[in-house]
Amino acid sequence: MRAIARAQPNIALIKYWGKRDAGRNLPAVGSISVTLAELYTTMCVEYDDTLLDDELIINGQADGGMLPRIQRCLGTVLGARRRPVRVTSQCNFPIAAGLASSASAFAALTVAADALAERKRSTDELASLAGRASGSAARSLYGGFVELENRPRDVSVSSLRAAADWPLQVVVAITATGPKPVGSTEAMEISRKTSPFFERWVEQQPQDLAAAREAIAGRDFSALATVAEHNCLKMHSVMWGSRPPMIYWNSVTLACMQTIRNLQEDGVPVFFTIDAGPQVKAVCTPEAVSQVHVALAETTGVEAVMLSGLGEGAALESTA
Ligand code: DP6
Repeated sequence: MRAIARAQPNIALIKYWGKRDAGRNLPAVGSISVTLAELYTTMCVEYDDTLLDDELIINGQADGGMLPRIQRCLGTVLGARRRPVRVTSQCNFPIAAGLASSASAFAALTVAADALAERKRSTDELASLAGRASGSAARSLYGGFVELENRPRDVSVSSLRAAADWPLQVVVAITATGPKPVGSTEAMEISRKTSPFFERWVEQQPQDLAAAREAIAGRDFSALATVAEHNCLKMHSVMWGSRPPMIYWNSVTLACMQTIRNLQEDGVPVFFTIDAGPQVKAVCTPEAVSQVHVALAETTGVEAVMLSGLGEGAALESTA
């Protein structure tokens, strides 16, 4: 008995940073993201009664480090009393590249485990469960432009606009590889407890969400660019104001931001966003993509550039 599911990572345009309930992993703010198309994680979950304990294999290698988080997620989807499972994950992009590999991993895991248990939960229920494992994973259940709404007791996730409706492109400039200094789960708690800007960040989020929603509804690139860059820089200000401070950027991150500013000055429709890592994600229109790609690849210090369109939400591939 096995089930295989696939999910794509997503990039937040209006960011999730901070939790209101760390135990249930409920976010302090709503968020809006785009789901990518070409990058994906495939998760195979199978019962195996010959195993003494669950087993996790990532890209062909046994991985003990991630296993407890995977097991907690399996517990919420399959229930506490269950048979041992083998989880085999395959990712077609570098895991340590700061591309939200945990979002695609937990979205795919939730869909596969639900199919294994033959539960057939709704996409919204699956998004809720994936979000308990990793907040951003909830958004990878849906395609295109996705909003995660913060409700009093839970979250609700929905697609604001299909990928084909506004086919923006995402160019990712890899400025460094390797693990982050502080993982986002821990970093968010540090920000909540110590950043003098945290409360204002939470307070202001509804207006950024509203501006982004309106820009997406009207396919207004320049309005989306303005609010997305503002929201990203505000999140990083919260991080910088934390104690200890969390600075995820390096000098190449700044060089890429400058490249994007130069393109904007030349009238190229592009904007940047940066998550809890040093990579720069440039969002642009299809007509601008080759110019943005070349400009970022030529920026001194950029190690690699990846390109993706917008795609669909997590989906079940097969069961046997
Ligand atoms: C900066 O979803 O990785 O990418 O819920 O603790 O697993 P946990 O956090 P995670 O945080 C993502 C933070 C972000 C912004 C975003 O994706 O919205």
